Amino acid sequence: MSSRSQILMCHPAHFDVQYVINPWMEGHVGRVRKDVALEQWDHLFSVVSQLVRVAVIEGSEDLPDMCFTANAGFILGNRFVPSTFRFYQRQPEIPLFSSWFDDAGFDVDDAMADTPFEGEGDALLQLDGNPTPVLWAGYSVRSSLESHREINQRLQIDVVSLRLVDERFYHLDTCFVPLGDGRVMYYPAAFDEMSLKQIRQRVPGDQRLEVGESDAMRFACNALLLDHTLITNHASDRLIRQLSDWGYETIVTPVDEFILAGGAVKCLCLIIDQHANPVGTGHVESPIRSTHVELHGHLLDSGLINRIFDSTNDAGGEAKVEQLTIAQRHDQPSTAQLRIIAPSADRLDMIINRLMLLGARPSDEPQDARLEPVTKDGVAPNEFYSTTIYPTEVRCEGNWIPVDRQRMDAVIVVEMGHRDQSMARCRLIRDLRIGQRIVCGVDGVRVNRPMAKLGDKEFSFMSAGVSTERRVELAVQELAWEMRRIKNRGGRIVCVAGPVVVHTGGAAYLSQIIRLGYVQALLTGNALPVHDIEYNLFGTSLGVDLRRGVGVHGGHQHHIRAINLVRGAGSIREAVEQGLITGGIMYECVRNGVDYVLAGSIRDDGPLPDTFMDLTQAQAAYAAAIEKTDMILMLASMLHAIGTGNMTPAGVRLVCVDITPSVVTKLADRGSIESTGIVTDVGLFLNLLARRLSQSDA
Ligand code: ARG
Repeated sequence: MSSRSQILMCHPAHFDVQYVINPWMEGHVGRVRKDVALEQWDHLFSVVSQLVRVAVIEGSEDLPDMCFTANAGFILGNRFVPSTFRFYQRQPEIPLFSSWFDDAGFDVDDAMADTPFEGEGDALLQLDGNPTPVLWAGYSVRSSLESHREINQRLQIDVVSLRLVDERFYHLDTCFVPLGDGRVMYYPAAFDEMSLKQIRQRVPGDQRLEVGESDAMRFACNALLLDHTLITNHASDRLIRQLSDWGYETIVTPVDEFILAGGAVKCLCLIIDQHANPVGTGHVESPIRSTHVELHGHLLDSGLINRIFDSTNDAGGEAKVEQLTIAQRHDQPSTAQLRIIAPSADRLDMIINRLMLLGARPSDEPQDARLEPVTKDGVAPNEFYSTTIYPTEVRCEGNWIPVDRQRMDAVIVVEMGHRDQSMARCRLIRDLRIGQRIVCGVDGVRVNRPMAKLGDKEFSFMSAGVSTERRVELAVQELAWEMRRIKNRGGRIVCVAGPVVVHTGGAAYLSQIIRLGYVQALLTGNALPVHDIEYNLFGTSLGVDLRRGVGVHGGHQHHIRAINLVRGAGSIREAVEQGLITGGIMYECVRNGVDYVLAGSIRDDGPLPDTFMDLTQAQAAYAAAIEKTDMILMLASMLHAIGTGNMTPAGVRLVCVDITPSVVTKLADRGSIESTGIVTDVGLFLNLLARRLSQSDA
């Protein structure tokens, strides 16, 4: 046994659960059996002391968690980096531990200024198996990602950041043990995908021991490894066997009274005799990256700040507000400066991309956009920037150039010209050609998302349950007013509609609205015109007599008869002109010069000769139809409405009417604030709208 102590423990005379800072403590306040805890600790102490020299620090009366010495800080060689606890309850432990280390002859570092770091609880050193020592470090619940970069810089050591995603495994030492020979034992469900990938990249399959849920829940991974002995609160026979196959002896010593506070063996032991040789040689630079974004608008009342935090965390990063100016009045905007930190440059790009969609603006010194060439027709370079519906600019040779044909889910092609003659436009991936240059990453991309204004309605406005008839009427009244204004200024209204319009008896009203000149283009599929024409010819819609609401004998074949008639005429237009079709939606379109685009699908009967069965062509025709449109009215058509939504830039007023709230919300996910959703029966809605529009036209 070496003369220097290897482990620091703290006598648990004052151990208790007095507050709740992790899920294990919930419901356990004041429930600790002190005598049981003392007995278990004494036993652990004697087990550990038989193997190594253990130093003991006195506890303190008002610090019930101080016995969890693993959280005191991190030791490397003679250096002690004290923790910065996330929760104030444990902060006062720091001076006590620091002075103990000072007295013991360690060099005591300054604690990290304002970023949480919880010591060895979240930082486990592995000396062998890798060319250089590796520090496995946990973040997200307690320690911050930022602290990992700081540790990397201070100690010149390779830090692997692992994100913890289950609050019950809040410290890395609750779910991960570096063993000898580069092996590791861990509980996979405690980590996110990105972190599991990191583990798998660094440790080959036969060197990884994945622990099951029942072992993990009993803190099997919260184990102290001393040479080839693993000391833990619990281990199943299977786990013991697996470890013994690798040459480890397992000693089980129950400390379940401490689990009431969320800690077990490893938490109670701090390794203080830890040397990483060779430190500094082959030092790996931290992959962690950060940048700044700014926000402007109704940050608090619109919940924007929260969404920024959630989006960042979900993608494995961290956001920190560095400056916040709150408006004095509710109609004034607030502003914030945030620092965004991510485990890698790629992740940072991904996060910034998401935040830009929410309205954040990168605020660090701008750079030119990175352009990569297309090397295969119809395929974008891997890191392509994917567009949103919002007006976007890209920076080329110092100039910001606006992107043309804005739409979502496209890439940006840049054609460099002389001086500020460069051009940028959105292109679908399938339309890319070899040699074109594509914007990659998020540098040099600026998205101008209009901030939510006061009084903006939520898209799900009038969602199920709250949409009373009176409210539908009010919405229709407002809509009619807007449509009239668009019509008066010679604007463009496009209607996307599904066959339900006909089934619910709305065809006559939509026909009337078209006749009044409120629709400039109709986007639909094969079914709406089929049933509309069927109704005109036979008075049925899918065989149902709409006036009486009953099925008509033999009516099921009406729709294919309608199709056949149009096929005979050559097209819908010709069928109208030959006088075969005498009324209805399609009739009014033809008579009033309203463009229509029919996009087919696998379930189409016929199809009508006018229906595009080549969907690439159909998409292009839809896209052309919505150019320079002021308003899109989406009537009970999930497929075609969402398809249209995807190609519509921000700034176009979207009104979605559907009986199913999920269609309305799906469209809202695009984030348009110019959108209104109305959850109601579309036949009823069209009836009200036609009445309003004809009144105001009278
Ligand atoms: N109640 C303590 C806390 O939540 C338990 C600490 C356990 N320590 C550990 N290294 N996992 O901070």
